[in-house]
Amino acid sequence: MVNAPGDRTIRSLHMANRQIRGTKFLLMNILLLGSGGREHAIAWKLTQSRLCSRLFIAPGNAGTALCGTNVECSPTDFEGVKKLCVAEKIELVVVGPEEPLVRGIVDFFAGDGSLKGIPVIGPSASGARLEGSKAFSKKFMQTAGIPTASFREFNDSNFVEGIEYLKAHALPIVLKADGLAAGKGVVICQNHIEAVAEFELMIHGNKFGEASSKVVVEEFLNGIELSVFVLTDGRHYVVLPEAKDYKRIGEGEKGPNTGGMGAVSPVAFADEAFMQKITDRIIVPTVGGLQKEGIDYRGFIFIGIIKVGDDPYVIEYNCRLGDPETEVVLPRLQNDLVELFLATAGQKLDEVVIKTDDRIAATIMAVSGGYPGSYEKGFPISGLDQPLSPDSLIFHAGTRLQKVGKTPVEQVLTSGGRVLCVTSFADTVYEAVDKSRDVLEQIDYEGIYYRRDIGFEFL
Ligand code: AMP
Ligand code: GLY
Repeated sequence: MVNAPGDRTIRSLHMANRQIRGTKFLLMNILLLGSGGREHAIAWKLTQSRLCSRLFIAPGNAGTALCGTNVECSPTDFEGVKKLCVAEKIELVVVGPEEPLVRGIVDFFAGDGSLKGIPVIGPSASGARLEGSKAFSKKFMQTAGIPTASFREFNDSNFVEGIEYLKAHALPIVLKADGLAAGKGVVICQNHIEAVAEFELMIHGNKFGEASSKVVVEEFLNGIELSVFVLTDGRHYVVLPEAKDYKRIGEGEKGPNTGGMGAVSPVAFADEAFMQKITDRIIVPTVGGLQKEGIDYRGFIFIGIIKVGDDPYVIEYNCRLGDPETEVVLPRLQNDLVELFLATAGQKLDEVVIKTDDRIAATIMAVSGGYPGSYEKGFPISGLDQPLSPDSLIFHAGTRLQKVGKTPVEQVLTSGGRVLCVTSFADTVYEAVDKSRDVLEQIDYEGIYYRRDIGFEFL
């Protein structure tokens, strides 16, 4: 565990602070789980809260180290997380990635005597099935009458029937591994031979391990996508700024899929009328459907939407914020994030009004050479200390700190496929992207690559 210098002094100051100011200004020690660009953006936003006392990030990256104290603990090591919460008197836990949620971190906290009172932002395992099981989410949408592509689900027990179904299916055919597959579990097949081979590989060839022992076969929807972020307390909800991400490695949306190469917010085609359709046909029945199923959901619902003609359809749900969407959504959000989380935990989101910056935010992700295939890491990053205009922000993703030489100077090194992103504000997409590119031009590491055409359809 890393302890920042002056730790005790800071804590006693905060204790005094609490006593003087009483409950109105309850300063909290907060733990954020995760280590990507999304988590750096969340950490950056949390530290702006008047309610944030000390922030811990497990395990974090070189960027989150600028916002709080990184602790070497995996978000799925629940016992490790528990120790950290007890040792640092954590009063709020924010879960960045999906895996701890799907594995039941919220249920773990609820079932542990020493953690019980600590609010955790994120759904219970039953709610996280919205992301953790495609078959569950499709059935959920069907029951709630939410527009989505038609589908069937197959496994070993109805495998032969599945092959027949595929052979008669219109092209292209979408195959989805039921479980979590690190964002790679969706395959779009352009012909029947490919679809049958892929289906077999998923169910019998262990392509995505246990995650593809069940497969959802889905109708292909043709349209333009956007990401909508809902924060719900299980009874009420608020809608955060929407965003559009750019998933392919190459410019013009070409080449293999990645975790996301950039994002913009707001999304020009998501006008008031379209957002109202999303609210009426998707958000309201989603929150209502969770309630009907008796699922206590206090966290984010990321709704991946496709606009077909003038109508919204759900492509997928995630039980967390998106990455890199968070890096444009949170900079535009003007509310105090800790206040939002406390309202979520206390089921008081009906008292919250979301305020957003009207300007356009665009982020560009810089990745390691070779990504999303194999890549090398451990390269020093330069240009991070350049003077930044107030309109630009650098968020770290796959970076880490390493001490160099005998003096305790720390160097930032690459440590992942998506390395860092730059978000900028402007009145037009063109200017926002241009500003982010200007900052990226001053940043360098071996093999640096980024797309120069983020937001191209809005330029
Ligand atoms: P998912 O992991 O479900 O978000 O799927 C990954 C990507 O596959 C989506 O962002 C879409 O671009 C595409 N996709 C998934 N389902 C469909 C579908 N039914 N029709 C068209 N594209 C889809
Ligand atoms: N950017 C897509 C995701 O976070 O799943």
